[in-house]
Amino acid sequence: MLNKNFLWGVATAANQIEGAYDQDGKGLSTADVLPGNIRKKYIFSPNELLKHKFSYYPSYKAIDFYDHYKSDIKLMKELGIKSYRMSIAWTRIYPNGIEEQPNEKGLEFYDKIFDLLNEANIQPMVTLSHFEMPLYLTKKYNGWANKKVINLFEKYAKTVFLRYKDKVKYWLTFNEVNSVTVMPFHSGGAITNDKSQITQLGYQCLHNQAVAAAKANKLCHEIIPNAQIGCMIQYSPIYPYSCHPDDFWAAQNFERTRETFATDLFVRGQYPFYTKRLFDQLDIKINTTPDELKILQDHSADFIAISYYMSLTMARKDFMSQTTEGNIFSGLKNPNLQSTKWGWQIDPKGLRIALNQLFDKYQKPICIVENGVGMKEKLINGTVNDQGRISYLRSHIRALEEASDDGVKLMGYYVWSIFDLVSNSTGEMSKRYGLVYVDVDDNGHGTFNRYKKASFDWYKKVIETNGKEL
Ligand code: BG6
Repeated sequence: MLNKNFLWGVATAANQIEGAYDQDGKGLSTADVLPGNIRKKYIFSPNELLKHKFSYYPSYKAIDFYDHYKSDIKLMKELGIKSYRMSIAWTRIYPNGIEEQPNEKGLEFYDKIFDLLNEANIQPMVTLSHFEMPLYLTKKYNGWANKKVINLFEKYAKTVFLRYKDKVKYWLTFNEVNSVTVMPFHSGGAITNDKSQITQLGYQCLHNQAVAAAKANKLCHEIIPNAQIGCMIQYSPIYPYSCHPDDFWAAQNFERTRETFATDLFVRGQYPFYTKRLFDQLDIKINTTPDELKILQDHSADFIAISYYMSLTMARKDFMSQTTEGNIFSGLKNPNLQSTKWGWQIDPKGLRIALNQLFDKYQKPICIVENGVGMKEKLINGTVNDQGRISYLRSHIRALEEASDDGVKLMGYYVWSIFDLVSNSTGEMSKRYGLVYVDVDDNGHGTFNRYKKASFDWYKKVIETNGKEL
């Protein structure tokens, strides 16, 4: 049984919906230099990215939430959600990240959104940085590789906490922060030309982000005493491919070094016990100070937020052939699971496992801030009969209800997403995630009109019955 305050929601990110990339004083962000269909290549290997001029950048217009927010929030109200997870574009507030004064127009834009949400009885949950930061900070400091960015982020966080203290009670620092160890540019604005340095760079960014998050947690608690601020990671349970002890070890090692390493820092406030050996093996050295380590310890996150899309399967090195796609990490094909068109393996039971594992480890409330499925879809007679999405969501909600009955303390569940939006990993629009169809194609053409899919009414009912009617 879910408690009556359970946060049923939907989630989006600024650069995937807003558009208006240069309006009202907004600066360029790292997301604004990512192209459309050939995006994946640059996410993991951005070296040449800044030298290229592409013909089309999906974030420029995205789904034009900037001009549709009033009617879009009306749809949210009609859906009956209790909470809306969204992100603030740092570059609307501080266009280059370094200005003395914030951009008033940017602040006003989010004021209008929060006011409408509050009028509709929808609690905003706000991510401070969802896979973007001022591009200027990449060029000047190499993003999160440089500790100077910590104070700039602190200034930005302070500005928005002070401005929205009466309007926003739920905050998240960085989206899927554990991803920075494999994609330091996309997740941390940092680039290296030397492939062998990616891990070193990624873990240094993670450290600096952990310190920045701890400082933001402190500020948030001081400025908005009744707020909660969480650490957000991408989490998948990692299955061993066989019962060979080496496969089990490979799975366990992956889980802790790529996933819960981050939650140890952000939630437990400490480097995990195996850090020295790991860093020796990886031949990396992280620049930390005693003051920073104390800050981590003193100002940890209040809750754990996860995105859940799939489980992953790992084996010892020699058996790691035939990997399948995942949103950030890829693993082996699991013969027991079906996959989406993009190779993401569908595993509702994995969500129950994930929630139990994380709660067991940290004993902190958990919020599922992203779960959903991308599909190729066509509008027929003004709607989409997306039974595939309904069955995906139904099975995952059942799994979280099982976890809740197991005793896991759950805060909420957010569908990714209410609208079809620009895919983060591929830049496509045709990888559709919405409960609402948006008429835009992969090249940004279309009417931008919104059409409710069958899943919209289905999810509305789920919310009305607090998850009883699935
Ligand atoms: C998560 C991200 O990794 O997955 C979102 O936080 C993203 O930004 C979502 O959109 C789905 O991934 P994709 O690549 O299919 O858009």
